[in-house]
Amino acid sequence: MRSTAKRVLVTGGAGFVGSHLCERLLAQGHEVLCVDNFFTGARANVAHLLGDPRFELMRHDVTFPLYVEVDEIYNLACPASPVHYQFDPVQTTKTSVVGAINMLGLAKRVKAKILQASTSEVYGDPDVHPQPESYWGRVNPIGFRSCYDEGKRCAETLFFDYRRQHDLGVKVVRIFNTYGPRMHPNDGRVVSNLIVQALKGEPITLYGEGTQTRSFCYVDDLVDGLIRMMETPHAVTGPVNLGNPGEFTIAELAALVRELTGSASPIEHRPLPPDDPRQRRPDIALAGELLGWAPAIPLREGLARTIAYFERALQAA
Ligand SMILES: NC(=O)c1ccc[n+]([C@@H]2O[C@H](COP(=O)([O-])OP(=O)(O)OC[C@H]3O[C@@H](n4cnc5c(N)ncnc54)[C@H](O)[C@@H]3O)[C@@H](O)[C@H]2O)c1
Repeated sequence: MRSTAKRVLVTGGAGFVGSHLCERLLAQGHEVLCVDNFFTGARANVAHLLGDPRFELMRHDVTFPLYVEVDEIYNLACPASPVHYQFDPVQTTKTSVVGAINMLGLAKRVKAKILQASTSEVYGDPDVHPQPESYWGRVNPIGFRSCYDEGKRCAETLFFDYRRQHDLGVKVVRIFNTYGPRMHPNDGRVVSNLIVQALKGEPITLYGEGTQTRSFCYVDDLVDGLIRMMETPHAVTGPVNLGNPGEFTIAELAALVRELTGSASPIEHRPLPPDDPRQRRPDIALAGELLGWAPAIPLREGLARTIAYFERALQAA
């Protein structure tokens, strides 16, 4: 083990991003405590890590206090897809807000650094493109997406108040659409949706005309950004955008998925859901400046890896 090995808590560690983060931290020689209530995560996502004596998996809901000794906390616990976060919206807000209070309280007690996985959704339906961190957002406080958007905004508030009141080592990153292996096959997120539909030969659904744009960051790039952010000096708090600025319309994404899967699935148009952002693209200048970070994996390559994962997962199902 490296002499700089740390004890790292990853909340939501059995989820899509969290499982990749746990893997990377172990590979760097750290001890990892993965905490998850398995709402959207799964033991299977980290099953391959269970044999490592430096890895520990704990079933726990972050809306309840946690007493452990750690050096760093990555707070990822929160369902991330609309299907899941709208299933029990009150619990979603609680997870973001009470979860943040509990994890910040823990960080304060044990003097740990703590990173919050915030989201581009804090910008809402933006009227500024691309969105820099200085943009305050345009968020509906009472809509279907508000439990997530406002929960995450309140969590950011708590992080910065803990900083101002207690000088806690806080790091806030705003994550833009991320994709990769271990995304949920049925959670309605656009990349997994399109891939699963294409692989099953089902119609590929586009909401509206498919002209709304998104940027897609491959999960390995994101994990690299999260770790770089945690390693910044105390003075660096963020918020820092992490995402891939390459902007694609959903229709373009669908065409690429069809090409890479060799699928003949027809395209089917459905009405746009309420509050669906029209355009979403990160301004990652600050991440470049502070972290020396930029995504490295092009969409075509990341999609090919993700498709390979879903092919295996669908065969095993
Ligand atoms: N994937 C993205 O594109 C994206 C974009 C922006 C922000 N994020 C943020 O990154 C984090 C990880 O997202 P993901 O895509 O891996 O989603 P995910 O749903 O796969 O992972 C979230 C994990 O948190 C766990 N969880 C939920 N509520 C919990 C609770 N109360 N207590 C303990 N565990 C709980 C879930 O079981 C799951 O394992 C989330 O906080 C999400 O908001 C992700």
